Amino acid sequence: MSSFKDLRIVDNFYQTSAFFPMPTLCISTVNPDGSLNIGSYSLCFPYYIAGKDRYAMVLECRNTSNTCQNILRTHKCALNFITDDRKFFKEAVRLGFPGPSEEKMKEPLKFTMEKGQADPDDPMRPQVIADAYQVFECTWASHLEGADKFKVEDIDDGHPGPYNDFNGITSKYGAHFILYIDKILMKEEYYNAIVNGVTKDNFPPVPVDYGYRDSTNFWYTRFPRFFKPIAEPIPAPKEVDLASIRFAADRIDPEIKFTDAALKNFVKVPRPFLKTVLNGCVAWAKENNVTLIDDEHVKIINDKRNAEKQKRK
Ligand SMILES: Cc1cc2nc3c(=O)[nH]c(=O)nc-3n(C[C@H](O)[C@H](O)[C@H](O)COP(=O)(O)O)c2cc1C
Repeated sequence: MSSFKDLRIVDNFYQTSAFFPMPTLCISTVNPDGSLNIGSYSLCFPYYIAGKDRYAMVLECRNTSNTCQNILRTHKCALNFITDDRKFFKEAVRLGFPGPSEEKMKEPLKFTMEKGQADPDDPMRPQVIADAYQVFECTWASHLEGADKFKVEDIDDGHPGPYNDFNGITSKYGAHFILYIDKILMKEEYYNAIVNGVTKDNFPPVPVDYGYRDSTNFWYTRFPRFFKPIAEPIPAPKEVDLASIRFAADRIDPEIKFTDAALKNFVKVPRPFLKTVLNGCVAWAKENNVTLIDDEHVKIINDKRNAEKQKRK
């Protein structure tokens, strides 16, 4: 017998049929008259994380929102990640109430704004929230799925369709945006934490949003001051036996061979990554006219890879 109850899945299931931990973002965009709009969003997650020419986020939003219409028009937005300060979350809830931009933006803002760093002369680039702990400055990948065909003028009581599947207008009231990340702006304290190594004491105070529940409130938790982040070590890599590495290595390229000493370097490489690592070595060997890869060569390849990683930091 199952230890769970089977719960009905309804619209907005992530907040009506589940407890789903989410980030809290205030998204800044530029209105048609050049003024600033800020809307609150939680459904915004990493989308392209590696192996593509750009990094990207995906945002899910109402297509009648100011944010959606501004992104359709300007293609630019800034994802401002707010801290768990109660006055900021209260402000996020105020800015999350649906309505015309001028109504909510005429109230005094609880946030301090400043100029971003991506294309500083582009008037379509919105200001960023100086109180955020990090900001992603983004450009909509409007060419994906031909999403640049969607026009703000076609949105009234939602959009009449036809709809795209994953980028642009995706249903009568819905929109998805794949947002290329142009810049990640980080407050110095957390920049240092990332560059010099995180400890339990140098994480930013990140709120966890549980969404709009009980038809009355947005629920969130503050960053726990007394219970710090806990580091859970990943399992020690299991050593793979040399014979199985030899089996894979001998099948990569008929002209390039590996010595046992070279292959011993790979006993701790997780199985799904072994072929990629061996392919990398073979590519290096071909570039350098090496036909027998030895331990020394692997060290050179590793040094080269580490230097490239450092350069990307
Ligand atoms: C904390 C918080 C998170 C929200 N997350 C989302 C979201 O991910 N997607 C969405 O469509 N609306 C979300 N909303 C509701 C929007 O903020 C609301 O539609 C608002 O009118 C958008 O502002 P805008 O029209 O200026 O873009 C959220 C509201 C709050 C308070």
